[in-house]
Amino acid sequence: MAMALSAAAALLLCAGCSQRPRRVADGPVYLDRQAPTEERIEDALSRMTLEEKVAVLHAQSKFSSAGVPRLGIPELWCTDGPHGIRPEVLWDEWEQAGWTSDSCVAFPALTCLAASWDPDLALLYGQSIGEEALYRGKDVLLGPGVNIYRTPLGGRNFEYMGEDPYLASRIVVPYVQGVQQNGVAACVKHFALNNEETHRHTIDVDLDDRALYEIYLPAFKAAVQEGGAWSIMSSYNLYRGTHVGNNERLLDDILRGEWGFDGAVISDWGGVHETEGTVLHGVDLEFGTWTDGLTMGATNAYDNYYLANPYLEGLRSGKYTVEGLDAKVRRVLRLIFRTAMRENKGFGALNSEAHYAAARRIGAEGIVLLKNENGLLPLRKGSRVLVVGENAVKMMTVGGGSSSLKVQHEISPLAGIAEQAQVTYARGYVGDVGGEYNGVSSGQDLSESRNPAQLTAEAVSLAREADYVVFVGGLNKSDHQDCEGADRLDLALPYGQDALISALAAANPRTVVALVSGNAVSMPWVDKVPAILQCWFLGSEAGHSIADVLFGDVNPSGKLPFTFPRALCDSPAHQAGMTFPNEGPTTYEEGIFVGYRWYDKQGIEPLFALGHGLSYTSFEYGPARLDRTSMTEGGRIRVSVPVTNTGSVPGKETVQLYIADRESSLPRPVKELKDFAKVSLEPAQTKTVTFEISADKLRFYDPAAGAWTAEPGEFELLIGSASDDIRTRAAFTLK
Ligand code: GLC
Repeated sequence: MAMALSAAAALLLCAGCSQRPRRVADGPVYLDRQAPTEERIEDALSRMTLEEKVAVLHAQSKFSSAGVPRLGIPELWCTDGPHGIRPEVLWDEWEQAGWTSDSCVAFPALTCLAASWDPDLALLYGQSIGEEALYRGKDVLLGPGVNIYRTPLGGRNFEYMGEDPYLASRIVVPYVQGVQQNGVAACVKHFALNNEETHRHTIDVDLDDRALYEIYLPAFKAAVQEGGAWSIMSSYNLYRGTHVGNNERLLDDILRGEWGFDGAVISDWGGVHETEGTVLHGVDLEFGTWTDGLTMGATNAYDNYYLANPYLEGLRSGKYTVEGLDAKVRRVLRLIFRTAMRENKGFGALNSEAHYAAARRIGAEGIVLLKNENGLLPLRKGSRVLVVGENAVKMMTVGGGSSSLKVQHEISPLAGIAEQAQVTYARGYVGDVGGEYNGVSSGQDLSESRNPAQLTAEAVSLAREADYVVFVGGLNKSDHQDCEGADRLDLALPYGQDALISALAAANPRTVVALVSGNAVSMPWVDKVPAILQCWFLGSEAGHSIADVLFGDVNPSGKLPFTFPRALCDSPAHQAGMTFPNEGPTTYEEGIFVGYRWYDKQGIEPLFALGHGLSYTSFEYGPARLDRTSMTEGGRIRVSVPVTNTGSVPGKETVQLYIADRESSLPRPVKELKDFAKVSLEPAQTKTVTFEISADKLRFYDPAAGAWTAEPGEFELLIGSASDDIRTRAAFTLK
């Protein structure tokens, strides 16, 4: 008996054959997911209606943009942030949705990753956070941030990678690659010139092209051209009078033109302010605009977005071309096909042991030993340690702006230290007893009834009996500390910490200061304290990373990614005549002389220099040897330096190569970081570090030529353990 094959059976039979299942119903014919991406883009474009094309260019909720349901193209989901995957929020709100399945691992802040000077760790970081994003079903990770550390008061410096464009470039590339190996897009931010927070929506930055090309753009360029970033986030600020979100020079001429960026530009949330400029030169994906089309105020008004109905009307009236629309839609479809519609994506992982191990390792590798007199550190395990300070207990993964997280756990410095020693705790000072952001609460009750004098008296009296005192202070994620939207007000530690540190050091000479922060601070007590650790915001495994270093399970190898000036007025952004914070037209007068470039030029001695970081062992550098003493523009020179561990414990040393251009037609810094290598050495072991110098490491940007140029003449290689600790030099000539 002939049986009419059921539809399901037909599909089953068909499933065994090679071609794709034929839909028996007269439904849509979905896009061919096996075809190359560029073919899929043209196929989709050819079938999308005008309305569908416009719909994919703007948000449909706080963190998602529309797909094309009719064609089986899914919506695109973005998530903060650079240090971990933000908890799910309500459809059109910043408030968290109250899920119980979206706690995550908080990885160390990116200043810590930069301080590791280890591109391999940056790859591990990107892979790990990318897995968490993938597991949470996210297509775009809104990070990393690579804005240059121009001022020590910058509220979001903790999210970025320091003051040197070369270091930031070497760290951002593997981070992006690691994230994108998961089929999740990195969204490198905030492109560009977002270097202060207070008036970030209205500051209008101007600077010379040398500073733009040599200092503020390189990390973004590396992320695009070497990292292959699939998306870039445009910044809030203006550049030369035009918001970056529709800035022709930055987005069209440089990013898409000179660099060949083929990905999508995503606006910062609320960074789009007009239709015309955005259509012609601006972002491809508009997020966070809160507008009824005219003023602020209407929520869920996604059809009123500048790239929504206003754009549609302009297309229908002929004001805007379909070619221009298709150019944007191509870039958004490319992002979707690289992520949401990517074939053979994995499933990621969330809160895995591997991720906790990565967080702990990156944290310990990024901690910088600033001072260690008489080998006070590492501390003896099991000793009696008085731990003092609010930052020993305060959760730091909640707050600070869009990088705030809801973590599965956060090991406090006190808890980490308590696993290794007999600890007593004294509050010492009261900072910010709050602990809530976007509906995520730390759950801590940090309320304190005693006054500063009583808290100091308690800490000082306990200090006298302890074997060691570990003061855990620094900044936090509150307004005017390390926080988005509000820069710091001065360089000093807040909450009376300076006086307390001095009192503790007087009470017990074996006092260690561990700073939890993302920025430089002044240290009036620096000569009174034998040991100082810069501990960054270390995330879920903070206490373990700190204890690993304090008690010697990890020999610290971090190096500062930015300078600690002795006084704020030493900083180039705060020199006489400069204002801060800035609103409206602002010129970066210092030009290329940012960070150590400025301190070298002015002969200002910093408190701690870029690249500074000690070890529990010591390293000796032999003489630099060149394989030749001159090179042509197309040639290269190799310099080799033997480095020996002259101490008694294994350690890691980041050997830094700076290059000085002894004669140039335009002013150049005394020296510039152009390479580095982190090497592990057993006691008494010697390794030879070799750097290869090609012309690209000698060039500066010549605005008149609009090109990078290396001028013949003498150059000097300065190799050392820090920018202010050069151990060996060698000169050569560029013919
Ligand atoms: C914020 C931040 C940006 C973040 C975005 C979404 O204002 O500037 O870094 O990714 O909005 O939260």
